[in-house]
Amino acid sequence: MSIKQNDRYPYDIVAVRDDFPILQSEVYGNRLVYFDNGATTQKPRSVVEKIERNYYNTNANVHRGVHFLSQQATDEHEAAREVVRGFINARFAHEVVFTRGTTESINLVASSFGKAFLEPGDEVIVSQMEHHSNIVPWQLLPGVKLKVLPFAEDGTLQVGQLEGLISSRTKIISVTHISNTLGTVNPIKEIAQIAHRHNIPVLVDGAQGIPHEKVDVQELDVDFYAFSGHKVYGPTGIGVLYGKEEWLNKLPPYQGGGDMIDHVTFEKTTFAPLPFKFEAGTPDYIGSTALSEALRYVQQIGLDKIAAHERGLVAYAYAELRKIDGIRFYGEAVGKSSVISFNIDGIHPYDVGTVLDKLGIAVRTGHHCAQPVMQTFGVEGMVRVSFALYNTYDEVDRLVEGLHRVVGIFKRQTNRKKASA
Ligand SMILES: Cc1ncc(COP(=O)(O)O)c(C=O)c1O
Repeated sequence: MSIKQNDRYPYDIVAVRDDFPILQSEVYGNRLVYFDNGATTQKPRSVVEKIERNYYNTNANVHRGVHFLSQQATDEHEAAREVVRGFINARFAHEVVFTRGTTESINLVASSFGKAFLEPGDEVIVSQMEHHSNIVPWQLLPGVKLKVLPFAEDGTLQVGQLEGLISSRTKIISVTHISNTLGTVNPIKEIAQIAHRHNIPVLVDGAQGIPHEKVDVQELDVDFYAFSGHKVYGPTGIGVLYGKEEWLNKLPPYQGGGDMIDHVTFEKTTFAPLPFKFEAGTPDYIGSTALSEALRYVQQIGLDKIAAHERGLVAYAYAELRKIDGIRFYGEAVGKSSVISFNIDGIHPYDVGTVLDKLGIAVRTGHHCAQPVMQTFGVEGMVRVSFALYNTYDEVDRLVEGLHRVVGIFKRQTNRKKASA
């Protein structure tokens, strides 16, 4: 695609887009505009090539063999853990547990923390803007009650109400870093400070945080931070649970199997040290190394520049989208991240998504796995546009043109219906 104003970008957007071959593809004869990055991001060549290289050259099971390949694969897998450690500034590499993704990371904590510390009648505080994967795992714990920290009309989390929700039964606070529907960036450090004054640990769902914000788990002082590789330009099937050493040591294993043991007899098993205690079975050692490649890619561009670029796109998109008849936005908190959710009066979000799709523009429609947010606004679904580091202003223009066409089509239909009534 032609980029009209390359100087509008904090990095060489043309070169960056060349790293993502899928962006050159066509959908129904139109150049793809991919605005569903909140669901998953596209992958740069370096990530895909790393997967290929590892399968062709260093594939062997890790942590088990004395043979050359197994040792090489183990070294790469552990080096990847160190890359993740550096990316989030954890104190120790053993505070980085590889999982399948955010969902599994949260389930791990809910299950292990639940076993060790939660009894019927205990309370977990979550926010009103959580993805289902930070609601349902807690609901699976028998008798545990969810308390909900609300957000204001504009999508700002009402952190001032947090103290009032905390009781002697509150055992953990689990909140999202960035809302996948509203784009709100929550004040995680402040939440952790409030929680720690009451000796309550904090888990952060970082699925949407990691791709868009510089995350320093020591600076934020969170106890757990969960994220998915595929939302940060890495492969599917790999994710991370960061946990403070002291907390991970206190939690029992999540799953049993190979790799997580120290010694097994039929009478008793002792467990491996961190992080292996939480990594039962063959880990996704290809995924971990590909994830580390993705994180390197992001670091090379720089999260500050990525965030600045995405905020520029958000501001531009809002200014242009406001010109569309009957548009209503959800979530306009100050400093919001790269998600814009909206509906257009009288047009079902699926219809908006379907017409845009025919124009080659991929957006998300539906409840975005955040039904409580939909319930708050009294809607069944929304259209969501979510940006990534490779998106452009020209693509926003395509979206806006597309939406004007959507409005035109549905207006004509309504007029025809009225005329024939
Ligand atoms: C805020 C948030 N949390 C959790 C998840 C779940 O991530 P995954 O499906 O990769 O486990 C998502 C995915 O959209 C998300 O946006």
